[in-house]
Amino acid sequence: MAATAIALAAALGGGLLLIARRFWSAAGVKQSITAATGLMEGKTVIITGANSGLGRATAAELLRQRARVIMACRDRGRAEEAARELRAELGLCSRGGGECRGELLVRELDLASLRSVRSFCQQVLQEEPRLDVLINNAGIFQCLYMKTEDGFEMQFGVNHLGHFLLTNLLLGLLKNSAPSRIIVVSSKLYKYGEINFDDLNSELHYNKSFAYSRSKLANILFTRELARRLEGTGVTVNVLHPGIVRTNLGRHIHIPFLAKPLFNLVSWAFFKSPLEGAQTSIYLASSPEVGGVSGKYFGDCKEEQLLPIAMDDLVGRKLWDISEVMVGLLK
Ligand SMILES: NC(=O)c1ccc[n+]([C@@H]2O[C@H](COP(=O)([O-])OP(=O)(O)OC[C@H]3O[C@@H](n4cnc5c(N)ncnc54)[C@H](OP(=O)(O)O)[C@@H]3O)[C@@H](O)[C@H]2O)c1
Ligand SMILES: *[C@@H]1O[C@H](CO)[C@@H](O)[C@H](O)[C@H]1NC(C)=O
Repeated sequence: MAATAIALAAALGGGLLLIARRFWSAAGVKQSITAATGLMEGKTVIITGANSGLGRATAAELLRQRARVIMACRDRGRAEEAARELRAELGLCSRGGGECRGELLVRELDLASLRSVRSFCQQVLQEEPRLDVLINNAGIFQCLYMKTEDGFEMQFGVNHLGHFLLTNLLLGLLKNSAPSRIIVVSSKLYKYGEINFDDLNSELHYNKSFAYSRSKLANILFTRELARRLEGTGVTVNVLHPGIVRTNLGRHIHIPFLAKPLFNLVSWAFFKSPLEGAQTSIYLASSPEVGGVSGKYFGDCKEEQLLPIAMDDLVGRKLWDISEVMVGLLK
């Protein structure tokens, strides 16, 4: 009897704590929104994967700060739908200019195709006089073994190589627009990765968790090597982990039907909302506090320490050189 009562009380108390935690964090996010209005006036931002999850939340907030946002997405239909919703939510007009706060554009970019990356960049270079912020946000998580159009393992190809080519092709425009910023969305799971140069396309052996971690480790090594190359140019590059966030990222993970309600409850209680998860991306894109900071790793809007595997500059350089060859920047 007593044991049941204690268990019940504990469950009730725990539930109340969870609810309090939800409302507490939602309040914190609201405050940061109102504090920053107008910060991005006159600035152009490209966000990859902006139709969903963190990218969509980042786009919404930067629009609130009056940026001109280019949503770089692989599926035009999904992107236009997200853009329509964002315009309605934020009260933007569809063509920008005049009284409009912020401006939203959709452009096609499939990071699993080097041809698509090249044509996206060509259009941007033709149409955009400046680029202030590039946010490499799109990502694919623990899919079954698949290859990109160019024959790369999908997670390494999209999360690392596609963004590698994208960034390199836009670097001239970013330099001409300096001071400008590049932001890379990685993950804490980088720590289970390793850059196994003998099998970057996982042809000998595929482990989907390892491949995701490897791609997120590559994001960090890329950031540090790029920061070194960009010293003195006025272009900064930083990398972040968003925490665990309720998004569509887990689409390739199978959760048994009966476990779904439990999973939903846990994710509602413990995972961040997309807007909470996007705070560090938004901070790195627009806060004056990090204007001169480059080559650093952030979580919850603060610099964090990296493990030695992510600070191995020799591996970082070798990865850069091999990536250049893989995407055809060097022949
Ligand atoms: N959610 C988390 O807990 C978490 C934790 C750590 C790190 N992250 C990182 O956060 C980033 C954003 O993920 P999310 O959680 O917001 O997931 P999400 O809701 O699934 O959004 C991912 C975005 O990437 C896009 N994308 C996937 N493949 C692409 C391709 N080949 N070309 C262009 N775009 C592509 C998706 O487009 P479609 O909608 O068309 O598929 C979608 O817009 C990822 O880099 C992820 O690794 C997330
Ligand atoms: C796959 O990789 C993960 C992370 O690197 C590791 O923990 C796990 O043991 C690996 N699984 C197999 C079957 O090798």
